[in-house]
Amino acid sequence: MSVIKIAVLGFGIVGSGTVELFYRNRESICKKAGKELDIKYILEIRDMSDTEYTDKQTTDINDILDDDEVTIVAELIGGIKPAYSFVKSCLERGKSVVTSNKELVAEKGAELIKTAKQNNCCFYFEASAGGAIPLIRPLHQCLAGNEITSVAGILNGTTNFILTKMINDRMDFNSALKLAQELGYSEKDPVADIEGHDACRKICIIASLVFGRHVYPEYVHCEGIAKITAEDAAYAENWGGAIKLIGSVKKTSSGKILPLVRPAFVCGGNQLSNINDVFNGIMVYGDAVDEVMFYGRGAGKMPTASAVMSDIIDAAKSNGIPPVSLTWEDTADSSHIADYKDDITSFYVRTSKVSKQQIINTFGDVEFLSRNDMPADENAFITKPITERKFDVKLERFSRKILSSIRVFEQIEI
Ligand code: HSE
Repeated sequence: MSVIKIAVLGFGIVGSGTVELFYRNRESICKKAGKELDIKYILEIRDMSDTEYTDKQTTDINDILDDDEVTIVAELIGGIKPAYSFVKSCLERGKSVVTSNKELVAEKGAELIKTAKQNNCCFYFEASAGGAIPLIRPLHQCLAGNEITSVAGILNGTTNFILTKMINDRMDFNSALKLAQELGYSEKDPVADIEGHDACRKICIIASLVFGRHVYPEYVHCEGIAKITAEDAAYAENWGGAIKLIGSVKKTSSGKILPLVRPAFVCGGNQLSNINDVFNGIMVYGDAVDEVMFYGRGAGKMPTASAVMSDIIDAAKSNGIPPVSLTWEDTADSSHIADYKDDITSFYVRTSKVSKQQIINTFGDVEFLSRNDMPADENAFITKPITERKFDVKLERFSRKILSSIRVFEQIEI
């Protein structure tokens, strides 16, 4: 039996994890693929002489492109440059590509899926959203019988880890971030995690797949966790919930879709409020299933390698025929995206030197919150559901007296 040769691009956290996992479980992986597989190349510019894979190292992508024996390429470099040109060239040569690269799929997914089809090979990206969690395949295969109306969840392991450490262990933000970096959870530039860009890329991929038209990151309103304070977290806890960075997309009554990334107060009755540490949790709502939830490690070396390996096995089984359901159309505009300012939601607000009466006069019926050691001149409350546009106008009246305002995650109505 001829051996399918794999090239791994990048020997960082995910790349080294993928190689390690392959050789740890090679026998069962090949059995599941129904074919003999081996890694022929590892493309890496850093010195690999202290690893056991030094004989596989190349620093030149042309070695891989020109080698007809290589039919599967795992792109685990991350970012757009040079990953995009490497992936595109591999697909153009008919080599199937699997990737964990969220940025690449969110920016170039529609184009790369098309390139793969044109060249009778596959482009897979299970590891690009949800880390170890099987999510992409269930969305386009197991749930294919449903009209999916909404997907919402915790999509970034690093920020969930930081929020958990800050709240449960009273760790300061920078120490929690440093620990997340040491554990290999964060992006090379952790700003992408903190500012929500990583979660945004993931919701773009999910939204594109579920609703069939490419959602580019610039179409998505995105807020990160940088402004969340320990005081806000204490109010959320006393309220019986937690603050989580939520990425979501839903179909609106106008027929458009609304993708959004923002920190949110999540009530204790919602399962997402109990997802801690590096774990991700994703709820999918469909007309037949009602709701299903996916849970697992959202980042890290071996969990991500697990998802990459599932794609390598599928690529080996595919014979170059991509699944018809793993696709979406490209788009030249954002006419399919609703304006988040029209979305109706409740808001948590924390004020200084604003009386309860002033708050009631402006926002009407609200739920006042409390926390330990609450300053006498501080008030925190949750509004009734309101459009963000109207909320902004009301909030403007208190201008500099607003210490924080955070959306409340609404339980999805089926
Ligand atoms: N930095 C990402 C996260 C890695 O923390 O979720 C996994 O995509």
